[in-house]
Amino acid sequence: MRIGLRLLPLAALLLFLIFNTVEQSEVDAVGKGSKRRRIALNDLGTGLAKTITPGFQTSAELEKYLDTLDESTTRRVIEGEFEHLIYYILQSRYFTSFKPIEPALSSKELFDSLDPVDRDRLLSDGAPLDPARIPIPVSVRQRVASFKAAVDRSSPLPKGQFVRTDGDNERWRYFSTLVRTTRDTSAPRIEIEYLRTMRFLYRKEFLSRQFDPAGQADYISGLYRTRAHSTDTQIEAGFGVDTALALIGQIEEQSGRKRRFSRVLIVGPGQDLAPRTGLLDQLAPQSFQPFTLLDSLRRLGLADPRGLNVHCVDVNQRVIDHIDALRGQTGQTGTGRGIRLDLVSGLTERYGWSFSTDFKEYFLKLGVSLGTVKDPPGTNGAVSSPPQLDRNLFQDGHLVRQVEVPADVMTHLSAERLNIITERYDPSPQFDLVVVTNVFPYFEIGRELPLSIANLAAMTVAGGWLVHNELSIIGNQVFNEVGLPVRQVRTLMIASGESRPLYDGVVIHQRQ
Ligand SMILES: C[S@@+](CC[C@H](N)C(=O)[O-])C[C@H]1O[C@@H](n2cnc3c(N)ncnc32)[C@H](O)[C@@H]1O
Repeated sequence: MRIGLRLLPLAALLLFLIFNTVEQSEVDAVGKGSKRRRIALNDLGTGLAKTITPGFQTSAELEKYLDTLDESTTRRVIEGEFEHLIYYILQSRYFTSFKPIEPALSSKELFDSLDPVDRDRLLSDGAPLDPARIPIPVSVRQRVASFKAAVDRSSPLPKGQFVRTDGDNERWRYFSTLVRTTRDTSAPRIEIEYLRTMRFLYRKEFLSRQFDPAGQADYISGLYRTRAHSTDTQIEAGFGVDTALALIGQIEEQSGRKRRFSRVLIVGPGQDLAPRTGLLDQLAPQSFQPFTLLDSLRRLGLADPRGLNVHCVDVNQRVIDHIDALRGQTGQTGTGRGIRLDLVSGLTERYGWSFSTDFKEYFLKLGVSLGTVKDPPGTNGAVSSPPQLDRNLFQDGHLVRQVEVPADVMTHLSAERLNIITERYDPSPQFDLVVVTNVFPYFEIGRELPLSIANLAAMTVAGGWLVHNELSIIGNQVFNEVGLPVRQVRTLMIASGESRPLYDGVVIHQRQ
């Protein structure tokens, strides 16, 4: 039976979106009839049981914990969708001619305008977010009014504003549907979500500055462990993974055998729906990681010529639907239409950053092993090399490149909703490579992180690899307990800035 989505209240709609997969699906993509299932007490083993704090004494205790975690994940995913909505309303040029607002600057304008009592109230987690009490900046109210008028055509238009609801704009369709199909988004819901989002941004971008660099990193890590689940993704994440894969290739070669990967897992590929800053309206929302990973594996000669499957899991059903839709478009047999990938750096040189030579080299290789690179006219294409990187590859300071990806590439990709903390595939799919970037920071340290690492270990083949970019957790005892010790650690410079360079880390573990 088809459920009339229009009638569903917010929570029901999103629960439907999140849990509409069957409880235990057949996952051919991960082979041997592996099924997704919730973890049980006997999955924890004695070593791990000691590492988890506080530990679990009985199955009932673990079940209760997992239920609570599922609830908080659902809440964080919903809050994340509304956080993206706020970034969209503030930055999009699609539905209004009011000037875009930089979200972090909006948080500063908001907090600077408050008296000390309201400021403390808004910063306190316990107090309700009350738009009737907290004055929202006029520029924000104008954009919110334009957005509401565009969604609900019967509302009066703010003076002098245009509303564009026509056309085939995927981002607009998603957000207007989100608001139309959730009952409580009409009046104060958007304003409440604006206050929630601004509170997070103000803490992250401004309050964090009161600490020294180490204290600042700790403070921001604390915010991430409970914040809304963002699906933000940037091609920059692929740089560290590419570097890690080159190293893995070398290690494998030195050991006398070069492993070729046939079964690869990406945890949390994400989708760039409406980023915290630098929204590029003209590009459709994309998920880069499955493509950049395939590209790297092929270029580095690590893809098994007999067959390679990159399987993606994510707690956000929108991300899974996006990958499934691409597969639908290209056809199950890979004979349908190919897809166009718009590779754009998240970082822009407009704000004083200068990309490192290594990152530019990586960018110039991107997509070459995936399909046909279509650089903007006048560029030298894939053959140009730093330092002669053509300025035409830059748009608004972003590095930009288009790749026509043939339909058959999509036959190598699959996706399913799975929470890596509470679930795993069983029997083990024996993944020979697992990639997890910008996901671990969202996990609490005592239980969520160890459980996720144990699930990854259980699904990885002996000798297989885990690659992530979270330097702060390399000392965590759980990696040794579950047989995933660290093999290599690197830091990479993505860009240099006026005051400091921008680094990413890469950590490589090997399953014993
Ligand atoms: C910030 S995005 C990172 C995207 C991409 N990996 C990158 O580095 O650009 C984090 C992604 O992880 C997903 N995620 C968060 N917690 C998860 C969990 N417990 N299990 C699976 N996916 C999760 C989110 O829904 C989101 O899509």
